[in-house]
Amino acid sequence: MNHSPLSLASHGPVIPVIDLHSVDDAVPLARALLAGGVKVLEVTLRSPVALACIAAIARAVPQAIVGAGTVRSVADAQAARDAGGRFAVSPGYSAAIAAACRRIGLPLLPGVATAGEVMAAAADGLEFLKFFPAQQAGGVSMLKALAGPFPEVAFCPTGGISLANALEYLALPNVKACGGSWLTPTDAIAAGDWPRITRLAREASALRA
Ligand code: 3PG
Repeated sequence: MNHSPLSLASHGPVIPVIDLHSVDDAVPLARALLAGGVKVLEVTLRSPVALACIAAIARAVPQAIVGAGTVRSVADAQAARDAGGRFAVSPGYSAAIAAACRRIGLPLLPGVATAGEVMAAAADGLEFLKFFPAQQAGGVSMLKALAGPFPEVAFCPTGGISLANALEYLALPNVKACGGSWLTPTDAIAAGDWPRITRLAREASALRA
């Protein structure tokens, strides 16, 4: 695959942030999202089965591009890679994680919330950044402000985004995609309501024609 993290944004406007607690849910969930046109899947490392879920999706749903979210350490990045993850997302910026991802060839979408963090990431050659937590850290107006000093940096805002406000973000020239958990509600996963998840994915995919 193209190893530029920015290529993740070329597959659709929304990257779902997925929290899984049973390996049995992983493949049907990935298929449901794919059926709704959502191909890039961020599975957060927030449960003991997250890595097994990434591995299951990577094996059974090769058309999906599955990666790991909530990567908080070099060990997390390595484990994500070993499980078959094709990218990593970190909640904040860590030069050590960035260096490790470069070393192991894992595209990284690192989180930033301040101008200083954008500077640190850009100095390390990263120009597609997760703006997190987007709503809480200043939302659309913060992204407009960051466009001034950082015209070459693109963002994937995540945190507090839903169908109701995603378009405001996606309309910004420096926003290439946004992230959010609204495509994969906990109750829909628990109920195995895959058609609902496909509907949510289809709605999200339609945010950018
Ligand atoms: C997260 O990492 O928790 C994401 O930002 C998801 O945020 P959301 O639940 O507000 O979409």
